[in-house]
Amino acid sequence: MNDLLTPEAVAPFLRGRFGKPYLYEPECESTQLLLIGSGLPEGAVAATEHQTRGRGRLGRSWEDAPGASILASIVLHPPAARHLPELSLVAALAVAETVEAATGLAAQVKWPNDVMLNRRKVAGILSELTDGTVVTGIGLNVNQTREQLPLDATAEPTSLRASTGTTYDRAELLGSLFFRLERMYDVWRYGGLTELYPELGPRDFLRGRRITVDGKPATAVMILRDGRLELETGRHETRAIESGEVVFER
Ligand code: BTN
Repeated sequence: MNDLLTPEAVAPFLRGRFGKPYLYEPECESTQLLLIGSGLPEGAVAATEHQTRGRGRLGRSWEDAPGASILASIVLHPPAARHLPELSLVAALAVAETVEAATGLAAQVKWPNDVMLNRRKVAGILSELTDGTVVTGIGLNVNQTREQLPLDATAEPTSLRASTGTTYDRAELLGSLFFRLERMYDVWRYGGLTELYPELGPRDFLRGRRITVDGKPATAVMILRDGRLELETGRHETRAIESGEVVFER
C-alpha cells in the first residue's frame, strides 16, 4: 500500500467536485491556513501528512502522528440562508458514515463537532468563517496505534486501527469522505439539516446522556433539526444551546 495522501495517490478516489483543486504538502502548520484567505473556489481541498500547529476547537491544538491520520480542509461557500453551525454536524455525519463503511462498526456524531467510535473520539471537525467563506477542517485518526494517540483530557481518543486491529488506505478513505461530504452538503445546501435528520438522529451520541455543559450538569435530550442541542437542566426544564463545551459521563 502506497499510504500517502499525495495527489497521485488520491486522484483515483476523487469522484466528484470536492477535492478539485487538491493541494498537498508533506508537512505544514495547519491545512486550515493553506485555504483561509486563499480565494480558492468551493471544493478546494488541502491535505497533509503532518501539522506542526494543528488547530482544534476552542483554541486547542490538534496533535498527530505523522502519516497516520487524515488531516484535511475544504473551502465551502454556503448560501446565506443556511445556519452555519450546522455545517460541522454535516461534516461529522459524512465522517461517521465513512468510518462505518470502512470498519463495519457503528459510529456516532457527538454534538457539536466530534465523531465517536466505541465511545471514544475518532475525529474532530473545525469550521472557520472568514468573509463569507467557510474552511472546514477534518482530523480523522486512522492508522495510529494506541500508544500514538494523544492524551486528551476532554475525550478519550481512538483510531480506526486501535478500534479494529486493521490498517486502512488513507487515500481511499479521503476520497470516500469527500464524496459523501459532497452529497450531504448538497442536500443541506438546498434543504437544511432537517433533510439529513433521518441519518443524523439515529447517530446522536449524546441523546439521553448525563453531561456537563461549560461545567454545569444537564441531561442531553437530542440534537434538534436546527442544529442546536436540547438539554434538560432540571425537572421539566429544557433549553436549547447553540454552542458549548460538552463533557459526558462515562
Ligand atoms: C477538534 O476536535 O477540536 C477539531 C479538530 C480539527 C482538526 C483538523 S486536522 C485538519 C484541519 N487543520 C487543522 O489545523 N485543524 C483541522
